[in-house]
Amino acid sequence: MNVSETEVEILRLLKKSRHAYLSGQEISRRLGVSRSAVWKHIEALRKNGFSIEASPKKGYNLNAPTPFGASDILSELETELVGASIHYFKSIDSTNTKAAELAREGAGEGTCVIAESQSSGRGRLGRSWLSPAGVNLYTSIILRPKLAPNKAQSIALMAAVAVAGTIERYCKANNVTVKWPNDVMIDGRKAAGILIETSSDVDRIKYLILGIGVNLNMNTTEAPDELCDKIASIGCEGTRPVERSEFARRLYSSIEKWYKILLSSGSAPIIDVWRQHFDKEGKKVLIKGPPDVEGICMGVDEDGSLLIRTSDGKTRRVTSGDFVS
Ligand code: BTN
Repeated sequence: MNVSETEVEILRLLKKSRHAYLSGQEISRRLGVSRSAVWKHIEALRKNGFSIEASPKKGYNLNAPTPFGASDILSELETELVGASIHYFKSIDSTNTKAAELAREGAGEGTCVIAESQSSGRGRLGRSWLSPAGVNLYTSIILRPKLAPNKAQSIALMAAVAVAGTIERYCKANNVTVKWPNDVMIDGRKAAGILIETSSDVDRIKYLILGIGVNLNMNTTEAPDELCDKIASIGCEGTRPVERSEFARRLYSSIEKWYKILLSSGSAPIIDVWRQHFDKEGKKVLIKGPPDVEGICMGVDEDGSLLIRTSDGKTRRVTSGDFVS
């Protein structure tokens, strides 16, 4: 669940003086809390899996890699909005469901939900999202953009750009592409999916849940047969396992950057970068509907809809569907 700010502050200090002891007195002085409060928070951190050595003379020392979770992410997060508050769950049905519940209760923009595993992870078009425990990133972010409901697709493209950019930091040698509208692929296999769910008035989005699943360290050979050769996992494509808290922080920073650009400058700069990752322009494509649409892909318009020139010479605007090829 939500973490205490003091706990995060203590973790931040311990991380800064890593491998050296920091006295309880020094921590209490820097944070303006009592030494017994420091001790209580250290105990809470230990319960959450942080290995903190204590020496009566020298103080506290964070002496092992830190476990994934809200405190770990927050202690090094440099965003203003995304991750302003993080709700962490060991296991949950769906982070999108939880985020929607929090949004209905009034949670602020930038509130994030993360989970180690999901029992009913959802994908687009009524599909499920494979969510094994402890290996990947499952997160949902509450956004409250002052946009008309029909502009939600531009948030999806914005998220794809942010996710692709973050993945590229781990897989430089690989080919990171986007599949319309917002799958992120490595060498043609899906590494990340994005699910946008909105609650809107007639002319305004009330809140939008941006759900993102990224395969980080899962062993794709253990996925069900039908998925095995269709999915990619970033840690397996790169040279070493991905540190999940670091990935989450980089992703949140990237989303914040592109979200601000979208709100201040519109979708054009987002579409430009999205197109650099899209390798189907000018190629024959098929979108499963209904209705199915087949033709030459002419790119996307400023709302993120796909433009397809069909055999009758007309250009069709496709707003939803399953991009088959
Ligand atoms: C897709 O490609 O079909 C979208 C997949 C989105 C999966 C993420 S995982 C975190 C969030 N919670 C969910 O239930 N779904 C999204």
